[in-house]
Amino acid sequence: MKVTIIGAGNVGASCTEYIAIKNFADEVVLLDIKEGFAEGKAMDLMQTSSLNGFDSTITGTTGDYSKTAGSDIAVITSGIPRKPGMTREELIGINAGIVKEVSENLIKHSPDVVLIIVSNPMDTMTYLAAKATGLPKNRIIGLGGALDSARFKYRLAEAMDCPSSEIGAMVIGGHSDTGMVPLIEKATRNSVPVAEFLSAEKLQEVVESTKVGGATLTKLLGTSAWYAPGAAVSEMVKAIALDSKKMFPCSVLLEGEYGLNDICIGAPVILGKNGIVKVLEIELSDAEKEKLTSSAEAVRKTNGLLAEILK
Ligand code: NAI
Ligand code: 2OP
Repeated sequence: MKVTIIGAGNVGASCTEYIAIKNFADEVVLLDIKEGFAEGKAMDLMQTSSLNGFDSTITGTTGDYSKTAGSDIAVITSGIPRKPGMTREELIGINAGIVKEVSENLIKHSPDVVLIIVSNPMDTMTYLAAKATGLPKNRIIGLGGALDSARFKYRLAEAMDCPSSEIGAMVIGGHSDTGMVPLIEKATRNSVPVAEFLSAEKLQEVVESTKVGGATLTKLLGTSAWYAPGAAVSEMVKAIALDSKKMFPCSVLLEGEYGLNDICIGAPVILGKNGIVKVLEIELSDAEKEKLTSSAEAVRKTNGLLAEILK
């Protein structure tokens, strides 16, 4: 199992570390354009192998895509992160060119690769990668819901003062402060609806803090977060590598599911060998449907900015 991570910055390095510690990949290649950066990160991480007890080999390269040849899975984290006060959508001007170039380079050397897109604005970057590469929809997956759901579970566990392992909850829709749709009506603690533990007002607070989860961290850190994003990506990569058929909300090209077409947006999927095994169409309440539809409208508006680059 060979995994390539494009971008050796905060998220790229963090997800490489988690993948290594989980010890399921034979080889991880880190690629960055900053001279020596990926090589340095790879060497530093390899020096943790005896300490953390993993056997994966991590190597780094400055822009040499031949080193990524034959990758089974590639994660695109290259691009600029947001600064406090910025939206994810404001990153499109720089990140669209990077994501297009990187995804085209990747498939030249790894035609069977499964691509996971992290760079923001992620739903639009996933759509761009799908259009630019022409890969089948099962092999283009965006990170959004897996991270947002982890943040949702954290906030629910915090509000109920219980372990997050007791929480079942999911966020679908666009990966943006206003577009996320935390499925609060469906959230449970050990199968009991969370509304049995928390007031409507508290539930609403949890929903709102989940939606601005990324912005809250960006304000505290001065740049966007990396531990939870890295961990979420590593779980998606692991599910594909081990063909585990686990369910994650991911950004996926929809073709009629949820009444949406020609858009990449967060929906529940099964991940296994070859990427997306299945898109799940779960029953949504009228309120949830309405929120997903308006989230899709916002993503479409951002996708409209791709017209020039997709010519
Ligand atoms: P960072 O600035 O720490 O790292 C980005 C790296 O990409 C840098 O090392 C840079 O040299 C490299 N890079 C730039 N252009 C490149 C190219 N053409 N080829 C190869 N490497 C290139 O940024 P960070 O914090 O790692 O974030 C990366 C991206 O991920 C941002 O767009 C951020 O908004 C996004 N993000 C998305 C999340 C999600 O849930 N979808 C969560 C967290 C971050
Ligand atoms: C996050 O949610 C900014 O998308 C990034 O942390």
